[in-house]
Amino acid sequence: MNDDLWNLMVARRHVGLRRLQAPGPDAAALDRMLAAAAQAPDHGQLLPWRFVLVPQHRRADLGAAFEEALAQRDPAADAVARASARDKAQHAPCLLVAILVDVPGTAIPTEEKLISLGCAIQDMLLAAQALGFASGLASGGALDAPGMRRLLDLAPHERALCFIGFGTADMQKKPRVRPQPGQFFSSL
Ligand SMILES: Cc1cc2nc3c(=O)[nH]c(=O)nc-3n(C[C@H](O)[C@H](O)[C@H](O)COP(=O)(O)O)c2cc1C
Repeated sequence: MNDDLWNLMVARRHVGLRRLQAPGPDAAALDRMLAAAAQAPDHGQLLPWRFVLVPQHRRADLGAAFEEALAQRDPAADAVARASARDKAQHAPCLLVAILVDVPGTAIPTEEKLISLGCAIQDMLLAAQALGFASGLASGGALDAPGMRRLLDLAPHERALCFIGFGTADMQKKPRVRPQPGQFFSSL
């Protein structure tokens, strides 16, 4: 295997979005990462995913969606909890939302579309690593909240699956112990 690819795979670690600082990818680097996503396998070539950037000037709107989702989940949430929900929107200098586009009536099952999205995400994470940026993923109940769906302008057949943050890690993460092939591989 190409050592460069191996080294990138091994070096990539999830970095919590709050730990991702500036600098993040500029427009040219983001273009490269999106081009990497486009290399993902895609059964039926349906393009069953898309990514939405949340630029700095829309972070307050994302914060409002986080706060609204919290208030719906927990109407008793106090001002501190609400502020913390809003604050999440400020994490990571470059923030994308990964969206599954599951147009009904296709012969390709949803699971395969999800796999394609996962591959596209991993391609982006590795491309970011190659460009010198750290990355992290964040999910949670707010992604499917009505206010979030409104903000992202999701069609009924679309689902926001996770946030992807890119930036510069505020500290070096140690490699994690990886599963051994014996844990996930067998032969008939
Ligand atoms: C779809 C998806 C959603 C994730 N959501 C979160 C999250 O909400 N919070 C979090 O700390 N990590 C999240 N992660 C990252 C994992 O915690 C991380 O990949 C795992 O700890 C393994 O670490 P590594 O990526 O450095 O190998 C998510 C990962 C995936 C694939």
